[in-house]
Parts: sequence; structure tokens; C-alpha cells
Amino acid sequence: MSLWATKPLSILMQEASEEGAHTLKRSLGALNLTLLGIGAIIGAGIFVLTGQAAAQYAGPAIVGSFVIAGFGCLFAGLCYAEFASMIPIAGSAYTYGYATLGELFAWIIGWDLILEYLFAASTVSVGWSGYFVEFMKEIGLEIPARVAGAPFKWVEASKSFEATSSVINLPAIVLIAALTTLLVLGIKESARFNNFAVFIKITIVLLVIGFGFFYVNTANWHPFMPENAGTFGHFGFSGVVRGAAVVFFAYIGFDAVSTAAQEARNPQKDLPVGILASLAVCTLLYILMALVMTGLTPFANLNVPHPVFVAIDAAGPALKWLTYLINIGAIAGLSSVVLVMLMGQPRIFYAMARDGLLPPIFGRVHPRFQTPYIATIVTGLVAMFIGGFFPIDVLGELVSIGTLLAFVIVCGGVLVLRYRSPGLDRPFRTPFVPFVPVMGILTCGFMMVFLPGATWLRLAIWMALGLAIYFFYGRHHSVLGKSAP
Ligand code: ALA
Repeated sequence: MSLWATKPLSILMQEASEEGAHTLKRSLGALNLTLLGIGAIIGAGIFVLTGQAAAQYAGPAIVGSFVIAGFGCLFAGLCYAEFASMIPIAGSAYTYGYATLGELFAWIIGWDLILEYLFAASTVSVGWSGYFVEFMKEIGLEIPARVAGAPFKWVEASKSFEATSSVINLPAIVLIAALTTLLVLGIKESARFNNFAVFIKITIVLLVIGFGFFYVNTANWHPFMPENAGTFGHFGFSGVVRGAAVVFFAYIGFDAVSTAAQEARNPQKDLPVGILASLAVCTLLYILMALVMTGLTPFANLNVPHPVFVAIDAAGPALKWLTYLINIGAIAGLSSVVLVMLMGQPRIFYAMARDGLLPPIFGRVHPRFQTPYIATIVTGLVAMFIGGFFPIDVLGELVSIGTLLAFVIVCGGVLVLRYRSPGLDRPFRTPFVPFVPVMGILTCGFMMVFLPGATWLRLAIWMALGLAIYFFYGRHHSVLGKSAP
């Protein structure tokens, strides 16, 4: 069978409409889906990376970085929305790839999405652990650094890994274990927890924006775009673009909505709403948040692991009360990101197993909970291992590059399918085709170029590993391949 064989849409539609004890349970409406998107989006990006990117690359013009990254995501989001409404199946971009570009591409996207979901869950669990340890310290419970960090770190100067004084990151492991359990127990229960966490984090983000604005010192916004410091990517316009590649991480997650396609009650209408509404809300909040943070304190002060805290602290005693809440906002916020990422990954594995590209056990649905429980548990175990032993910065950029690649392919997929099957029923149509998908490819591709060479190398190694697995396993077990004449 050809590596480029595509999975017929008629089969996909049939799979989407199956119901029973061995299928996923349709229980999510538009609001829950939007909240899942917001749950996945607002997290380590805004609570950790914004400050660092402002301090190192863009200054207050980090706002511009958010606008650039936001446009890239908007273009990609519009393309996701078309696919999600047309092919409402759990596998997200993997399935869209199978329907348009063929099996090999589908596998490549599916393998790439592991970087987005599984690795993001691990990355953010490490960020969560940092905030959690800090919070416990404030209430008088010290968690020793030995059990709350990765045993090695990446040293840029010597371009090598070095040992730290820690052994394991236990808080990260415990968080993933707890959330994995919740995900096995039910999608509805998981969505309920997510809604609660989203409520807390949005409230705190709004308090930061609302109260912070009154204490902004506009002198901190001058110069808005600091002059280039002599090297490419350090302030000036190139710094703003580099900042966009960094803060892109903050937007990752709106596409996770599409992995819940088979659990949506009315996917064709509600998935586009969930994807685009969560993206719109978060873009607005991010731009306001970046303005407030850089207005409260000179941007150079924001190069810390808890920049939101530092910004509000700079407002003086009047906002002291808010600094206490920020930790809580971050803990709630980051835990919902980990939850939704841990939700997305098994649903992609589930779709891949149904197609025969992964062993069938990954496709097994729990008869009572109606969740893909084996895939969920395997995802949790691997995420625990990575979160427990790897440092956050090495992981974060790998997540971004993997996600950007998926976005580029999805935008390309919309173009291909419009050209190849123009007459298909598209409940949601990406507007201004080919402009939007082409701009999506260019903006996301452009951000990829700004990520470091070491990250590209890790992506290449990951992909090579994936291809090896495909040629050893998937190619010989593919359901589509077996049914071919
Ligand atoms: N967008 C998610 C975050 O910032 C991954 O944590």
C-alpha cells in the first residue's frame, strides 16, 4: 500500500457516529469545550515566560510579540476549526492529516503531537511544582529542594548537561498521578475540575489586570521597543519576533479542544466555538497582562521565575494582598493545563490505535468510565518520568517547535483538501482561503525559524525515532493498509 494513501472521509464519519459502551461518552457542550481550551492555554506561558521574554528580548514591546504569536494562532485556529467541524474525531491533527496527506504524514503528525501534549504536560508540571513549593513555604511547610527538582540541568555556556543537588521532582509526579486518576474516572468529572481551576485563574488574571492598571507608571513603557542591543534577537524588531517565538508557548492548548471531538455533544457546531472563543479570550487577556506587567516595573526586573508576582509587588503595599493570590492563581492555572494536555494525548493515541498504527490496547475504552483508560495511564506514567527527572527549559522549546510544526501541517491540510475535494460539507469554513492558511504557514514557520538550533536537532532526532517505529510497526499493522486490495 502507498505511504500516501488517505483514509476515506466516509469511514471517518462512520467512526465519529458510533455509540455504545466501548466508545467515548458525548457529554461536553460549547461552554465546557471553551473552558477546556482556556484551561489548556493560560499557564506557564503567562505566569513564567512573559517576564523572561520581555526582560531578555523585547522590553514592553513584548505586547507586539503577543500580537504576532496571536495572529499565527488565529490563522491556525481558523484552519483547525474547519477540520474539527468536518471530521469530528478524537485524533485532532493526526486524523486531519490521515484524511488529507496520507498515512505517513498522519503518523508524522501523530508522533509530533506527543511533543505538544505529553511533553507540555510534563513541562508545565515542573512549573507547577515550582509554584507549589513556594506556596507551601509561605504557609510554613518546607519541601526540601532535593526532592523538588530535576537531577540535571542544561548549561548554555558549556552546551552540556550538569548535575544539580536534586534527585527527583516529586510534586510534579504527584500532580500528574492525581490528574491521570481523575481522567481515567471520567471526562465529565475532569471537565468539572477544569471549570473550577479556570474560574480561579481567570479571576486572578482579571484582578491583576484590573488593579494593576491603576498603578502603572507610564515611564516604564518608554522606550516601548528598546533599541537593538547589537545582536540579532536582542531588542529592536528582531527581539520582538524572537519574543513571539518564546511567548507562543503561552497560546498552546486551544487545539486540545479538538481532541475531545468524540466527547462533544454537538461537535460540528461547538468545536469551532470552543477553539476560537478560548483563543480570543486568552489573546485579549495576554495583551492586557503584558501591558500591565511591563507598566508596573522596569522590564529588566521581570527576568525571574515568578514575574507576575514581581510586577504586582512593585505596585507597593496597596496591592500586597494580591501577591498572595498570585501563587494560588498559578497553581490552579498550571494544574488545568496539565490536565487538558493529559486528556488530549490519550485521545490521539486512541485514534492511532484504531487505525492500527499503535497496538490495539491503546484504543481500549473502559466499559464503565468510557475513557481511553490504558492510553491515559501510559501517558501519565511517561509524563511522570519526564516531569520527575527533566529540567523545564529543555522541554519547553521542544513543545513549541512540535506544536508549530503541527499548525503548519494543519494549515497546509486545509489548502490540500479545498483543492482536492472542494464540494465536501464544511459546517465551518475557514474564511479567506488561501490567504488565511498561507499566512498560518508563514507566521508559524517564521516562529519556528527563531527557535534555537539545539531545539531543531532534538526535533529531528524525535522524528527519526518516530519514523523508525512506523516502519517497524505501524506500516505492517495499518488497518487501512490491510484492507487495501
Ligand atoms: N499554554 C500553556 C501554558 O502556557 C501550555 O502553560
